[in-house]
Amino acid sequence: MATTASRKTRQSPAKRATSAVASTSAPRASRAPKAPAAQEATALLKADHRRVADLFDQYEKTRSTAKKKTLVDDICKELGIHAKAEEEIFYPAVKAALKDKELVPEATVEHATMKELMAQVEGRMPDGEMFDAKIKVLSEYVKHHVKEEETEMFPKARKTRLDMKALGAQIAARKDELKASWPLSEDKPGLLSRVVEAIS
Ligand SMILES: [Fe+2]
Ligand SMILES: [Fe+2]
Repeated sequence: MATTASRKTRQSPAKRATSAVASTSAPRASRAPKAPAAQEATALLKADHRRVADLFDQYEKTRSTAKKKTLVDDICKELGIHAKAEEEIFYPAVKAALKDKELVPEATVEHATMKELMAQVEGRMPDGEMFDAKIKVLSEYVKHHVKEEETEMFPKARKTRLDMKALGAQIAARKDELKASWPLSEDKPGLLSRVVEAIS
């Protein structure tokens, strides 16, 4: 199967997926296709980071309350799914491979703080300067967290024997599942406070 796939520069999505799984044994005769089906874990996570940064940029530029609301919903969904996939798949793998007792615990605590900030804005109307301030603080916090992942955790993880493509495939599959069942009821610490707020 890999031999057929590796002969061609352009492949069908199904064949790209097959050749990605068998990529370690495939000869490097042709350059990788432009849009590989199986992304390495760190590349996939970095792409998520860029997407969220772009959503924060859009929020800062718009004055439309309706657009802000949509953007906040998108930010919370992207961040929520990303964080959960990291916590379930990437962080445990990295922690074991690095025998880490610092980077992953710190990142996990940062996720918790991020989720608390998200709970303050998710599902609410962007109703003024305090709301904008919360988004700004969340965006700065995410920026800090992303910088630590991309400059410390990811480079160290890539120096281990972790199979980044296999991890990437696992993360992508889990993200698809989470997207299908979003919003996740167990990750809604702000729900009760929003209900109390609405009826008081
Ligand atoms: Fe993270
Ligand atoms: Fe991340």
